[in-house]
Amino acid sequence: MGDVSTLNNGLTVAYDEVGSGNPFVLLHGFPHNRSLWAPQTSALVEHGRCIAPDLRGFGESGREGPYSMEQYAEDVVALLRNLGIERAVIAGLSMGGYIAMALWRLRPQMVRALVLADTRPGADSPETRDKRTDLMAVAKAEGPAAVANTQIAGMVGASTRAQNPALVDGLHQMLAAAPVEGIVGALQAMMNRPDSTHLLPTIDVPTLIIVGEEDSLTPVKESRAMHAAIPGSRLEIIPGAGHVSNLEKPAAFNHVLSEFLSALNYA
Ligand code: MLT
Repeated sequence: MGDVSTLNNGLTVAYDEVGSGNPFVLLHGFPHNRSLWAPQTSALVEHGRCIAPDLRGFGESGREGPYSMEQYAEDVVALLRNLGIERAVIAGLSMGGYIAMALWRLRPQMVRALVLADTRPGADSPETRDKRTDLMAVAKAEGPAAVANTQIAGMVGASTRAQNPALVDGLHQMLAAAPVEGIVGALQAMMNRPDSTHLLPTIDVPTLIIVGEEDSLTPVKESRAMHAAIPGSRLEIIPGAGHVSNLEKPAAFNHVLSEFLSALNYA
């Protein structure tokens, strides 16, 4: 299932690939890696050709810069080209959603449909930029485990925290394994990303918006606003889930995602 592709820009990208047929791409958030999507890659094999890459700087992918939302998007485009894919469903969670929006801005012809999970369209506020600068300093001085310690509380909802400590531990391990170069690069990319709000009304491909009811990082109101702005979009709120809704409530997440993928008309 795991493979490596060298992009035309020289970056090596590690990715999981399962299934066959209509392609869909799963883009993880910050500071995750492709294992975030294990509950989807194992369950959605019947629903098409599923590709889950480690983004630049994370997991087993190369760590060299430059880092920007546009660069992440171009990395995805280059990976799809290497795999002979011209158009795919693009699904992104949180930072993965920021990349999905950059792909829509830069390469709309490559986007068959969008899944925007636990994400937001807006740019960072000045306060958020300051927090990102502080987190870069933490990453450089204390390493990824310290970053994981600061991020873990917001990653899951109150229900998961109370009921599933094993999931929280596993997620903490994932965050603590993130390379410092990837953390710093992603923070720079997120700080500098443009506001995508004005793009939402231009989205004319089928769009599914998913959010955990208990998501405190990208709260439900952000998803409701995206739903109102994207013509014909569908909004699914997952009860008992927080920011990593796909990991916290995989059955519910997979149900809405598989229904959405099945309903796409490829004729
Ligand atoms: C993520 O999960 O990707 C982050 O929470 C996104 C962010 O920090 O804006």
